Amino acid sequence: MDITQRFDQQVAVVTGGNDGIGKHIARRLVAEGAKVVIMDLHHAESGHELLADAQVTFQIGDVSVEADVVAAMDVAIATHGRLDIVVHCAGIVGQNSTKITEVECESFDRVYAVNLRGSFLVTKHAVSRMIDRNYGRVLLFASIAGKEGNAGMCAYSATKAGVIGLAKSAGKEFAETGITVNAIAPAVIHTAMVEALDPWQVTYMTDKIPMKRCGTLDEVTALSCWIVSPEASFNTGAVFDLTGGRATY
Ligand SMILES: NC(=O)c1ccc[n+]([C@@H]2O[C@H](COP(=O)([O-])OP(=O)(O)OC[C@H]3O[C@@H](n4cnc5c(N)ncnc54)[C@H](O)[C@@H]3O)[C@@H](O)[C@H]2O)c1
Repeated sequence: MDITQRFDQQVAVVTGGNDGIGKHIARRLVAEGAKVVIMDLHHAESGHELLADAQVTFQIGDVSVEADVVAAMDVAIATHGRLDIVVHCAGIVGQNSTKITEVECESFDRVYAVNLRGSFLVTKHAVSRMIDRNYGRVLLFASIAGKEGNAGMCAYSATKAGVIGLAKSAGKEFAETGITVNAIAPAVIHTAMVEALDPWQVTYMTDKIPMKRCGTLDEVTALSCWIVSPEASFNTGAVFDLTGGRATY
C-alpha cells in the first residue's frame, strides 16, 4: 500500500471539521486521497484552507439533531456513493471551572445533547450506512476527563465517560463485521476549545500531564488517521490514549 494515499477512493464525514482537531484531521484525510464531508454548526469562512478544495463538501448541521446527522451521512452517499469513515469531533465543554452546585441544568443538558446524544446519533447513522459494504471506521472523541473526571467540568467529564461506554458497546456489536468503532481520549490539545476555558481549568489539566506539555494537532491527527485506516483492522471498542502519560488505564 502507498502509505501516503491510505484513503484513496474513500469517503469520510468529519463532524466539527470547521475548526480545531476535526479541521486538522479533515486536511490530512484529503491529503491522503479521501473525499470529505465536513459537518459543523458553522460554515467555513473565506480563508478556510479547505473551502476551495474540490474534495471537500461543507454541510451545516448540529450533531444533537437527528435529521442533521442523517443529512450529513446522506450527502456523503449521494455525492460520492459510499461512506467509509466517520470521525466525530464535534463537542463542547460547557461551564467549566465550576463546581456541580453551580452548574445550570440547561448547560448540563446542552453538553449532554452535543457530546453524548451526538455521539449516539453519529455512530448509529454511520454504522447503518456501512453494513451493506461490510467495511467502515467510526472514531469518536472522548477525553481523559471521561476516564478521570476533571474537577470543574462535571458535564464534560460525565458525557465523555458516556462516549467511552458507547464506543466499547458499539464496537462489540459489530466486531464480527468489517466495521470498527473506537474512541480516542486526549489530554489537552491547543485549540479554540481550550482557549475559551477559564485559565484555572487549563492549568489544572496541563499540570497533570507527566510530559509537561500539551499534545499537538499533528499528534492527535496521526493517531486518528491510523485508527480510521484499513491497517487498523484488529482494534474495535478500544479507547486510545493520547495524554503524555496522564492516563493510568
Ligand atoms: N482540545 C482538547 O484539548 C481536547 C481534549 C480532549 C478531547 N477533545 C475533544 O475533541 C473534539 C474536538 O475538540 P476541539 O478542541 O477541536 O474543539 P473546537 O472547539 O476547536 O472545535 C469543535 C468544532 O465542533 C463544532 N461544533 C460544536 N458543536 C457542534 C454541534 N452541535 N454540531 C456540529 N458541530 C459542532 C464547532 O463549531 C467547531 O468547529 C471534541 O469532542 C473535544 O471534546 C478535545
